[in-house]
Amino acid sequence: MTYKEAQKLLSEIGQSHVLSFWGDLTAGERKALLAQIGTFDAASLNRCRQALSMPEAEESNSTKAGKAPKVAQLKGPVKEKCVAKGEAELRAGRVAVLLVAGGQGSRLGFEGPKGAYPIGPLTGKPLFNYHARKILALSQKFSKPLPWYIMTSEANDAVTKKCFVANKYFGLDPKNIMFFTQGMWPGMLSDGKVIMQSKSRVFMSPDGHGGLLAALSRSGALEDMKRRGIKHVFFFQVDNPLVEIADPAFIGYHAIEKSEFTLKLCAKRDPFEKVGVPMLFGNSYRMVEYTEMSKEQCLKKRADGNLYHLYGSPAIHVFDRAFLEREAGQDMPLHLAFKKIPTIDSKGETIKPSEPNGYKFEKFIFDLLPKARKAAFLAFNQEDEFSPLKNADGDDSPKTCKRDMMAKWRRVLAEKGVDIAQDAVFELDPVKFIK
Ligand code: UD1
Repeated sequence: MTYKEAQKLLSEIGQSHVLSFWGDLTAGERKALLAQIGTFDAASLNRCRQALSMPEAEESNSTKAGKAPKVAQLKGPVKEKCVAKGEAELRAGRVAVLLVAGGQGSRLGFEGPKGAYPIGPLTGKPLFNYHARKILALSQKFSKPLPWYIMTSEANDAVTKKCFVANKYFGLDPKNIMFFTQGMWPGMLSDGKVIMQSKSRVFMSPDGHGGLLAALSRSGALEDMKRRGIKHVFFFQVDNPLVEIADPAFIGYHAIEKSEFTLKLCAKRDPFEKVGVPMLFGNSYRMVEYTEMSKEQCLKKRADGNLYHLYGSPAIHVFDRAFLEREAGQDMPLHLAFKKIPTIDSKGETIKPSEPNGYKFEKFIFDLLPKARKAAFLAFNQEDEFSPLKNADGDDSPKTCKRDMMAKWRRVLAEKGVDIAQDAVFELDPVKFIK
């Protein structure tokens, strides 16, 4: 993009201030700024701007009317039927794995991508290792590659790939791994002006895991899935070392139900657990974030004494590939986050705000829920499949993840008649125990 083109675009979208310090910039800084402006999409920027003036319309309406969805529990012959169907789909090579790993993981306070966090209780192997080895185990078991699509962001793409290279792709064939990056969106002040982080750089942040759809399409990943004959796309978040990747019962249930979007749900560990809760509004489902629920709603009980909104989402889903393709060209709702964003003053001096001063914009993948022609929900045990790595200490920290990983492995070994001492620090390689 040339200076003239940048000037024209910025003036059309009311952002001419971006070039205010052009005269002060070095040749390198000018080049970088023009490249950044070249990534701006006028329509998206205008949507962000509009969202600022009507945040109520973009944010959720009241959640009071939300009903709890019907959640299936698989047992006996029904479970066997689902497992058989899921195994058949895996054997036929119709399943792909999709990981969102573009987040900044700021609560964990770890420099680097969360997937590179050394979570192995004994070996300190990175979180990616445990995901990769499960994928390897499944591809060996069903004699079919399980293509793995990994979404990164500009900030962590290179170092994520480096982690895979350094670990020889954890034994997987790199031909079956595709990295792609999500989009970045400029932050804005409340007047709709994009925020300058320095004289030569606009502040930008990842567009949320909902940026996945556009990124899948832009990168050719959707096309690649189609070419490989993929029908079911297993989705998960990087931060859960316990996740059962492409669990045949889950894939089979999704396929038998002919669902477009199937969610695994688990009973909340406490009424205020920080997880999304799917609710039914009229004929349509929507994910309600914990922040949107009132105290009364969180505590509401059923006649049997259980919580009314018992089930939360650990963000483990299966999508129909054609559904992702259909939605890839559609706009998704915008979510605004009011944050402290370092910027510059009219002289170009850095300001570090002590209070929130600007907005970041994000899209959430679960906003696809109301778009699905058919959605389905499946319950599972939290202790078997969900122990997320979110914080440096306390709940959902490295300590609780390692504890839960070992507790799960202990149960697996106990079923095989092997007892492990309670105080032992040990590890199981999924390749050796998924048979
Ligand atoms: C998320 C869900 C919540 C769910 C919980 C389960 C949201 C808003 N909420 O909460 O409903 O119950 O997980 O653990 O997502 N990511 C990207 N790009 C981004 C932002 C995030 O790829 O721009 C990825 C992260 O790398 C991570 C996942 O999305 O794998 C979740 O992000 P995070 O910010 O940790 O979500 P939570 O707020 O913990």
